[in-house]
Formats: sequence, C-alpha cells, structure tokens
Amino acid sequence: MSTFQNGFEECHLFDPQILHDLEFEDQKCASYKPEINLTDPGEGLKIRPLCISDFDKGYLSLLTHLTKVGDISREQFEERFQLMKSQPNLYYTVVVEDTFTHQVVGSATLVKEMHFIRQCASRGRIEDVVVNSSYQGKQLGKLLVDVLTLLSKKVGCYKVSLECLDKMVPFYSKFGYAKEEGQNYMCRRYIPK
Ligand SMILES: CC(C)(COP(=O)(O)OP(=O)(O)OC[C@H]1O[C@@H](n2cnc3c(N)ncnc32)[C@H](O)[C@@H]1OP(=O)(O)O)[C@@H](O)C(=O)NCCC(=O)NCCS
Repeated sequence: MSTFQNGFEECHLFDPQILHDLEFEDQKCASYKPEINLTDPGEGLKIRPLCISDFDKGYLSLLTHLTKVGDISREQFEERFQLMKSQPNLYYTVVVEDTFTHQVVGSATLVKEMHFIRQCASRGRIEDVVVNSSYQGKQLGKLLVDVLTLLSKKVGCYKVSLECLDKMVPFYSKFGYAKEEGQNYMCRRYIPK
C-alpha cells in the first residue's frame, strides 16, 4: 500500500484522490469572479476530505453556524467518524481549511444512498452546507456545492437532491437544482427544531 493510501487510511473520511480526479474546470456548474477553483480556493485555503484531526480544527464549532450541534466529546466524534468511514464510499464530507489558522472554515456533505430501484441505483443528498460567517461572500459555499454536485455524478448517483429554505432557492439553482412539479418534502420530527 502506498504512503498516499496509508494517509487515507489514517486520516481522511474518504480517499482524497476522488477530489483530485474531478474534472472541475471542465464540468463546474457555477461561474467564479474572481476565479477560484477546487485546487486553488483562495489564499491559504485548501479543500479536502474531512479528517479525524478536524475535531481540533473547529469542525464542530463550524457546524453551529448551521444548527444545534450539542456537546460532542472527542470519543463520540471519533466513533462517529470511524463508523462513517467504515461504510466505504457512502459519506463524503468536504471541508475548506484555512492553512494559516489551521481552522476548518467551510464544509458540506454528500451522502450516497443505495437502493434496489432502477437496477440497484444510488442517489445523492447534499447536507450541512456551511461557511464560517467571517469567510462568507468569498464564493466558498458555491465552490463546496459545485464540488459535491460533480462528485455525486462521479460516484454514480442517478440524481442528487437537497432541502433548503425558500431564500436559498436562487443559490442552489446556480448548480441546476430545481423544484420538481408535484413533489413535496415531508418530515416528522421526534425532537423539536
Ligand atoms: C449559505 C452559505 C453556505 C453560502 O456560503 P457563502 O460562501 O457565503 O456563499 P458564496 O460566497 O459562495 O455565495 C455564492 C452566491 O450565493 C448567494 N448567497 C450566499 N448566501 C446566500 C443566502 N443566505 N441567501 C441567498 N443567497 C445567498 C451570494 O449572493 C452569491 O451570489 P452570486 O454568485 O450571484 O454573487 C453561507 O451563507 C452559510 O453558511 N450560511 C449559514 C448556513 C446555511 O444557511 N446553510 C445552507 C443550508 S441549506
């Protein structure tokens, strides 16, 4: 096994090579001004898979910009990380790290669900899209959603969907997401929002 693969074994939620293999420039959905991309998301910034060490890089506190997170211990985080990693090729959490501060400043997750329908097809769901408020407006949210949308196709999903507030519809429309006629999102909650 190569060092690279060992690195993946030790650290990343999924193989970083999958991101390197995306043809981002040719296939991106959005436009960027100033120009940024997957390999160059901005000065000092880096896009990569979630790592187990991101517990110490503010990953959980980043998620509080999105919703309630709770008081998660290192042990709980590592257990959940390893469980997700042990389901190969189903969980793709991508983060933006500020390499100057060693903090995670943006993140989004693609979950690949496996089904029997459509000849044992898989579908994708994009979840937990968040950028630290100090880094918002730098096109990082756009870049994260663009990357995960390309990734969903690359890993063989026949469709990819997401849930969002009305005000976010214009944002997600940039990547080709659209409300489908006659389709509704329904939810039953067991704990309050
Ligand atoms: C939504 C969020 C991820 C966007 O990240 P960001 O890095 O600030 O966004 P970008 O700089 O990439 O903005 C890209 C475009 O989306 C638009 N946009 C950004 N945030 C928006 C919002 N909250 N509502 C509507 N449009 C928004 C921008 O105006 C910009 O448009 P342009 O390309 O036409 O100039 C970020 O604001 C965030 O983390 N919000 C809190 C958590 C959240 O609401 N997540 C989404 C859950 S569905």
